[in-house]
Amino acid sequence: MTPDFGPSTPLTPPIHLSAVYRIPDLDAVDAIYGGTAPGYIYARDGHPNATVLADELRDAHRAAWGVVTGTGMGAIAAPLLALLAKGDRIVSSNRIYGKTTKLFRAEFDKFGITTSWVDSNDLDAVARALTEAPTKILFVETISNPLCRVADLPALTELAHRYAALLFVDNTFASPVLCRPHEFGADLVMESLTKMIGGHSDVTMGFVSGANPALHAPIASATSTWGLAANPFDCWLVQRGMATMELRMRTANTNADKIAAWLVSHPAVKRVVHPSRADHPDYELAKRILPNGVGNMLCFELADREAVNRWMRATPAVPFCPSLGHHETTCSHPDTTSHRFDPSSEKLAQGITPGLVRLSVGCEPFEKLAAAMEAGLR
Ligand SMILES: Cc1ncc(COP(=O)(O)O)c(C=O)c1O
Repeated sequence: MTPDFGPSTPLTPPIHLSAVYRIPDLDAVDAIYGGTAPGYIYARDGHPNATVLADELRDAHRAAWGVVTGTGMGAIAAPLLALLAKGDRIVSSNRIYGKTTKLFRAEFDKFGITTSWVDSNDLDAVARALTEAPTKILFVETISNPLCRVADLPALTELAHRYAALLFVDNTFASPVLCRPHEFGADLVMESLTKMIGGHSDVTMGFVSGANPALHAPIASATSTWGLAANPFDCWLVQRGMATMELRMRTANTNADKIAAWLVSHPAVKRVVHPSRADHPDYELAKRILPNGVGNMLCFELADREAVNRWMRATPAVPFCPSLGHHETTCSHPDTTSHRFDPSSEKLAQGITPGLVRLSVGCEPFEKLAAAMEAGLR
């Protein structure tokens, strides 16, 4: 069954596709379930590719443990399903990915888990929200989707802990290359591996890590029981992406800084949003939270929705793909995709206008990217 490699070993890790494992006897199955012997039983509960990837990401995040999930949304849902019950309360930043808003509003609400929304850059407002009622989770994004507001993670940790809540951070826009929220005290950190960590738009996966070892078992168990586990091939693809994650993130980050500076002076562009720009509301905060770079995500605003349509049609080299983190630059339109289901009034209050384009800057040469952007803007 297992090939005999002799003295050699494969350089790249194998993929263990088996959905289930042969176990010699009942004592062995008891030992594996009991955790007194290593081993696997059923792939939804665990498999070697998930272990290897989760350990690598755990180390990248300097966490106590890590669990991989089939999507980024699974990595948000699993800890909440594990740790919350009817009557519990989440306080969430009001500037987050639209599907996360929907998860809290439309799904957790059904189970009697309520969410209060707060401007998480207003620390007084966060403190007030935490005093209003007992809170289990304070949820924020390190760099918010799409307008790149930066979370003051040390201050938010202090507030969450003062009121006996856990700080849960979505670190997707930053990746562990730019930010490791556990080092600021965050209790739970998640990543959509679909994005910059996978890096090739060929896999959907998520990851959640924790600082407290006691939370590992319940969250791993919820991941299996709610059917949120990741499959071996996807884990293998993300592990391959991890090998170049740092190189890609750094190159894309440098490109994003340059593209932001270039777009600012373009007459067709009304507004550029990137924390590398001095007019960004979190320009100073970003230096503290993201000292190695503020990320590859930026937004720019054109006149209106029709101007965006025309720009997209004229810029095939920057494909309109409602995702992010690809190794080449793509664009998206938060109003009609990632934040489609948010009420228009909330979107406009945040600055998500019909003319707003979100760029996920990639690793191609800057000159090539600028030429493609210029052609469309003209
Ligand atoms: C900030 C953020 N968090 C979480 C997710 C969800 O990740 P996934 O699409 O892998 O479920 C996304 C997806 O776009 C995202 O942008």
